[in-house]
Amino acid sequence: MDSQRVVVTGAAGFIGSHVCEALMARGATVVGYDSFDPFYDRAIKERNLGEVRASANAAVADFSFVEADLCDATAFAKALADARATGVIHLAAKAGVRPSIEDPAGYVRANVLGTQVVLSESTRHGCSRVVCASSSSVYGNNDKTPFSEEDSVEHPISPYAATKRACELIGETHHALTKTPVSMLRFFTVFGPRQRPDLAIGLFLRKVGAGEPIRMFGDGTTSRDYTYIDDIVAGVLAAYDKTPEFGYRIWNLGGDHPTTLAQLIETVGAVAGRDPIVNREPMQAGDVERTWADQTRSKAELGYAPTTSIREGIERQWAWLTQNA
Ligand SMILES: NC(=O)c1ccc[n+]([C@@H]2O[C@H](COP(=O)([O-])OP(=O)(O)OC[C@H]3O[C@@H](n4cnc5c(N)ncnc54)[C@H](O)[C@@H]3O)[C@@H](O)[C@H]2O)c1
Repeated sequence: MDSQRVVVTGAAGFIGSHVCEALMARGATVVGYDSFDPFYDRAIKERNLGEVRASANAAVADFSFVEADLCDATAFAKALADARATGVIHLAAKAGVRPSIEDPAGYVRANVLGTQVVLSESTRHGCSRVVCASSSSVYGNNDKTPFSEEDSVEHPISPYAATKRACELIGETHHALTKTPVSMLRFFTVFGPRQRPDLAIGLFLRKVGAGEPIRMFGDGTTSRDYTYIDDIVAGVLAAYDKTPEFGYRIWNLGGDHPTTLAQLIETVGAVAGRDPIVNREPMQAGDVERTWADQTRSKAELGYAPTTSIREGIERQWAWLTQNA
């Protein structure tokens, strides 16, 4: 990894900040790129970046940061040129299913246009590979489980999911036309320290820990294949190493232990040491019934093997939350 100079988009976010640290830990020079999209509080992202900078100092690693929008092709080209980037890990996006229903055009701009800029400029600057974040949401409400990369994904049920599927198609076309190796990683609900504030586990831990009620959408039987951040980061790094061997490839990165919403709330209560107060509400538009990753391909091709159980991961996230309240 010594010669690797990697631009990481979305570096101030949850997954991006962890990926920056992991790349530096194995000797890469990292340039973070992020616009501080207002989807959630800038102060949270500044804190994430502060932790990345502290890790860089501790490891005597080379980290720099560019604040700019992905859709600004000139700014992204300059970041690549200044970094003399050899590869890109593209994690920036407007994330979240429900807000995408309120702002579909904003999601298309950031996710679809932004991804095209990343791909075009990365090729123009001679990068050896581009690894992009996709999402389990592309599977929509498919009945067949677990979800395999071979399954049909023609029926996304939210604008967010549709933008992620569009990015996969753009990536495939871009590879066919330019031969730049491109991969798409379908992350399955990621949790752990620095988790995005809108996501269930952190939200529930904060509320249950404070003795406040939580909102449960549906009857508790919906399920998610929750994936701990360290397992996702291991998968991202493996994909970064392997992408040039595959040309264009999609990989599922899941946790391998689907958990129902009711089980999740019970575990959160056990970890936080309080009985959750649950307000039941109807299912929300755009929310899928279930997710569960078939990891056959990512296991065989990336050596991906998630190791963190849901209980262990929630305990670690709770410990982090109580230290960083
Ligand atoms: N967290 C999950 O469970 C999950 C699941 C599936 C897929 N993903 C995908 O993984 C990636 C990272 O997700 P996350 O949870 O860390 O989200 P996050 O919101 O914490 O991080 C995304 C970052 O992208 C930045 N960004 C958004 N629009 C931008 C733009 N136009 N220009 C530059 N930067 C911009 C944001 O400021 C943010 O810091 C996203 O692509 C997301 O869609 C996440």
